[in-house]
Amino acid sequence: MSDTETPIQPASRRVFIKTYGCQMNVYDSDRMADALAPRGYVPTQEIGEADLVLLNTCHIREKASEKVFSELGRLKDLQGEKRAAGGDLMIGVAGCVAQAEGEEIARRAPVVVMVFGPQAYHRLPDMLDRAQAQRHLHPSLKRAVIDTDFPQEDKFEHLPPAKKEVTIKRGLTAFLTVQEGCDKFCSFCVVPYTRGAEVSRPVAQILGEARNLVEAGVKEITLLGQNVNAYHGLDAAGRSIGLGELAFLLADIPGLERLRYTTSHPRDMDDALIAAHRDLPLLMPYLHLPVQSGSDRILKAMNRKHTAADYLHLIDRIKTARPDMALSGDFIVGFPGETEQDFEDTLTIIRQTGYASAFSFKYSTRPGTPGASLGDQVQEEIKTERLHRLQELVNNQTSAFHASCVGKTLPVLIERHGRMPGQVGGRSPYLQAVHLEGSTDLIGAIHQVEIIGTSTNSLEGRLVAAAA
Ligand code: 5AD
Ligand code: SF4
Repeated sequence: MSDTETPIQPASRRVFIKTYGCQMNVYDSDRMADALAPRGYVPTQEIGEADLVLLNTCHIREKASEKVFSELGRLKDLQGEKRAAGGDLMIGVAGCVAQAEGEEIARRAPVVVMVFGPQAYHRLPDMLDRAQAQRHLHPSLKRAVIDTDFPQEDKFEHLPPAKKEVTIKRGLTAFLTVQEGCDKFCSFCVVPYTRGAEVSRPVAQILGEARNLVEAGVKEITLLGQNVNAYHGLDAAGRSIGLGELAFLLADIPGLERLRYTTSHPRDMDDALIAAHRDLPLLMPYLHLPVQSGSDRILKAMNRKHTAADYLHLIDRIKTARPDMALSGDFIVGFPGETEQDFEDTLTIIRQTGYASAFSFKYSTRPGTPGASLGDQVQEEIKTERLHRLQELVNNQTSAFHASCVGKTLPVLIERHGRMPGQVGGRSPYLQAVHLEGSTDLIGAIHQVEIIGTSTNSLEGRLVAAAA
């Protein structure tokens, strides 16, 4: 066939998705890309070449939503440049800021043509069509397409299955959302409002997606949920299955070598899940189990429904089942009414627990949450000072944990080239980054690595032997 006879392929359109916030958003962004594929959109990492930009937003703390509005300002400029050059750019806002502030975004940022919450991703192609249909309308007649409903239907059923090429690009590790939403209503948190009530995906759907991922080369899956250990999906017989039992079912998938999950609530750490940690070698000994505060008074005001002693007792039970369990947590400093003594109690629970890592935040008022109407706000400078003290303690614990690994041999899933030439890198069971000298042939499998040194954020290792 001569050149002139070659059919002209329609130029594919490009979508740039910018993800803010948690791992659930990372997962959701991949699924949005999957949902757009049938409309001819391919993902790009270059915002300059995008025809469509989606901001997948986070509303958990104040700064997160401010960032979205400043990004929209920059995108407006980019759209102007593209139009001046004869092109165009469509802009959509997804995620939890969209869910919480849909109308407000459309009003404050008319550049946005679609605003949709986390439960609407499967309707994205349809929204895109509706937004595109308005393209040639006079600006005064254009209205952003807003979809912030919480539908009864199962969005996962309506999303196309994860595409193999997307999965491969993701590499050896993948996220898999098993549960969404939260019924806990901690008084500081927007999640129950932005993500809605707890919904668990059926067991068969999760096993199917996990098998696809493993077939595409994934060795490690992290199960995701805002309250992942509250998972209670139905199996084929209509029985409700908890996360512990689900872990046993996933463990039977040949080729799946590692399993993790995040984020958990202390109240939902049941016996079956603790037993899974005791009995399943593939369930990694690293647990993100936020306590938020060590003061019973503040825990009560936060509506956490557990005390500091409950948490410590739970940690004991978990460590009895899995003695090498590494713990991670979230802490909020400066919740309304937090005194110096309350804060000291938080430092005490950190000392008693011993964390491998932790995330800590200054309390930030979220409109619509019960915390927002509490008086006795803590001054900003006090929050900053407490945060520094807490982070210093946690950093020391992280360094001590890293140092305790030196001299040990750990199985490391080698995932990538290292920072230096001739190096490769991966993760220990405790989610620490490990780098070592070695050929790229090592990438893709778990290898025994002797830990010979540490730096602030990673471990240095030496290959001992290839795993069987
Ligand atoms: N202010 C500060 N931190 C918050 N988090 C959730 N809501 C707030 C808030 N209003 C933190 C909690 C939670 C983590 C995801 O974010 O520690 O576990
Ligand atoms: Fe928010 Fe509490 Fe639910 Fe976690 S458990 S998502 S902090 S309401």
